[in-house]
Amino acid sequence: MRKTLFERRSIRAYKSDQIKENELDYVLGAGLYAPSGRNFQSTVMVAVQNPDLVKKLSVMNAEIMGTDTDPFYGAPTVVIVFANPEYPTHFEDGCLTMGNMLNAAYEAGLGSCWIHRARQMFESDAGKELMRQWGVPESYVGIGNCILGYADCQLPTPAARKDGRIIKL
Ligand SMILES: Cc1cc2nc3c(=O)[nH]c(=O)nc-3n(C[C@H](O)[C@H](O)[C@H](O)COP(=O)(O)O)c2cc1C
Repeated sequence: MRKTLFERRSIRAYKSDQIKENELDYVLGAGLYAPSGRNFQSTVMVAVQNPDLVKKLSVMNAEIMGTDTDPFYGAPTVVIVFANPEYPTHFEDGCLTMGNMLNAAYEAGLGSCWIHRARQMFESDAGKELMRQWGVPESYVGIGNCILGYADCQLPTPAARKDGRIIKL
């Protein structure tokens, strides 16, 4: 656990090999067991491994950024976290679900990275259509995209921590 919390890093280069089902299940389980406000469990995770669909999501994300590069860095799996906005802690619940998955991915020997712009992706007509197909209520909010795969790079060195971020009284 200590190693995971301090050594996990965002990975931005992936092999094309798909991850194993037990590895994906481990990461999803960690998301499922993340803390949530009043234990409302307001999040839903959608795991996407179909290459055409991963590509479609990548293009949607890139368009929001205004680029034509792959914001998923070639990762073969994307888990989208949605949260039910009826719950006041939905955003925080979603962020913790993402955090648990990122740490679990490292523990499982996978590379991972939080990819932003899920909210905008799933506010769009194309995003709402996908949510309909997936059985995710259209009112749910996209919190983050957790990309997963086998790293095709060394573990990056962490940036130095900024001063003044801990105040002990
Ligand atoms: C809310 C959030 C959004 C992020 N969005 C992106 C993103 O769109 N693309 C990306 O490459 N990394 C993204 N990251 C990863 C951060 O850049 C990364 O966590 C940060 O640089 C620290 O590096 P580390 O995760 O290796 O410690 C995001 C991280 C968070 C928490």
